[in-house]
Amino acid sequence: MLKDSYPYYLASEAVYANTDLEVTNKYTGECATRVALADAEVIDKAIAAAEQAQGAVTALAPYQRQAILEHCVKRFTERADELAKALCIEAGKPINDAKGEVTRLIDTFKIAAEESVRINGEVVNLEISARAKGYQGMTKKVPIGPCSFISPFNFPLNLAAHKVAPAIAAGCTFVLKPASRTPIGALIIGEVLAETDLPKGAFSILPCSRDGADLFTTDERLKLLSFTGSPDVGWALKAKAGKKPVVLELGGNAACVVDEDADINDAIQRIIIGAYYQSGQSCISVQRLLVHRSIYDEFKQAYVDKVSNLVAGDPASEDTFIGPMISESEAERLHNWIERAKEEGGTILCGGKRKGAMLEATVMENVPKACDASAEEAFGPLSVLYPFDHFEEALEEVNNSRYGLQAGVFTRDIYKAHQAWNTLEVGGVVIGDVPSWRVDNMPYGGVKDSGLGREGIKYAIEDMTETRLMVIRTP
Ligand code: SIN
Repeated sequence: MLKDSYPYYLASEAVYANTDLEVTNKYTGECATRVALADAEVIDKAIAAAEQAQGAVTALAPYQRQAILEHCVKRFTERADELAKALCIEAGKPINDAKGEVTRLIDTFKIAAEESVRINGEVVNLEISARAKGYQGMTKKVPIGPCSFISPFNFPLNLAAHKVAPAIAAGCTFVLKPASRTPIGALIIGEVLAETDLPKGAFSILPCSRDGADLFTTDERLKLLSFTGSPDVGWALKAKAGKKPVVLELGGNAACVVDEDADINDAIQRIIIGAYYQSGQSCISVQRLLVHRSIYDEFKQAYVDKVSNLVAGDPASEDTFIGPMISESEAERLHNWIERAKEEGGTILCGGKRKGAMLEATVMENVPKACDASAEEAFGPLSVLYPFDHFEEALEEVNNSRYGLQAGVFTRDIYKAHQAWNTLEVGGVVIGDVPSWRVDNMPYGGVKDSGLGREGIKYAIEDMTETRLMVIRTP
């Protein structure tokens, strides 16, 4: 299913330099394949190539960039099955979630193909006073230059695509460091890009150890750093990034409010997906559940009943909903948080046990709000229930967090929907659904410790381009 080994891509070419990186099957723990690992010297060459190729990529006409992106759409569609299986093995992603991610990858490149021919400027009226009479301005968007991308393990394809596809649309060269635990998705993207007419040197995809990866952040030839991953790492990278702008898509402890007028069955069905799909390893996974006291008991009973019956096991099986976490140490970390929350007064309503990297889908209540299980990013199959009496109190509780990525609000009251939109300190408020809902053209990103900037192709293209003005004087 996976090849025996994979190359890295240096200056658009596959290089089987060594195969020092072992990629495991996250369910069995066995070695699934080996991958070439780049060192600082290789990264330096990749950045030099990206800098050199930038002129040729800038010179591509929009329809040529569009053709490159359309080729990717075609090839990903043809290779969808292989891609889903690769995700299932390298990330332990249940096969149905893996197939879902492949459809999103295809969407992301489709959107980028569309946006690539819509990058426009504007005519600016400069005649604001007598001294500017006869002057007119025009702007256009030009590529910012070589970009540095670092992508995470939880969506090995689509979160790499959210950097790569807008870069091609905007005309930027790039170097990408995929997560070392899940590099295969990005390397298959590289294989497909190598089939296109992107000028030589336009891209490099380099799995590398974190120690050797400093140049991705510090090198001044790179004009933008876009990182998706954990908050601690993201903010530390920003501090080292020098003059380049930085986009950070980080984590959160997403909250979901279920108000008294919600359709309880519909809310439960959506929340189970939002909290537990791919074992909660999403930055917008439902973690804190705020439920109106008048429906709390009814909600709790039905919710816990359904969560306890989620099928856990081999992610390759179509029936599996809960697969392994990315590693045993991550499962152990979250299991410890659950145990500590219990010691501090929390009640486990279901789940709570761990075997290796498999952590049961867990629901808790009475968890003190300062516990890691509530206040920090769980990034695993855990949701914590709290009752509330007044809608305002629930909104305050959503904001009672150092994070602010997305929030979900189940209400059918349009005034409360607006109140939530006005009040919640997050990048996105989802009414009638979970915070975990995302399609790939929407602006996506957080405030507070959850990040800086927005992805979602059109918004990423804004970061990847500069405005260049031309002033014309008509004497
Ligand atoms: C994330 O985990 O940051 C991305 C979530 C998504 O794309 O659905």
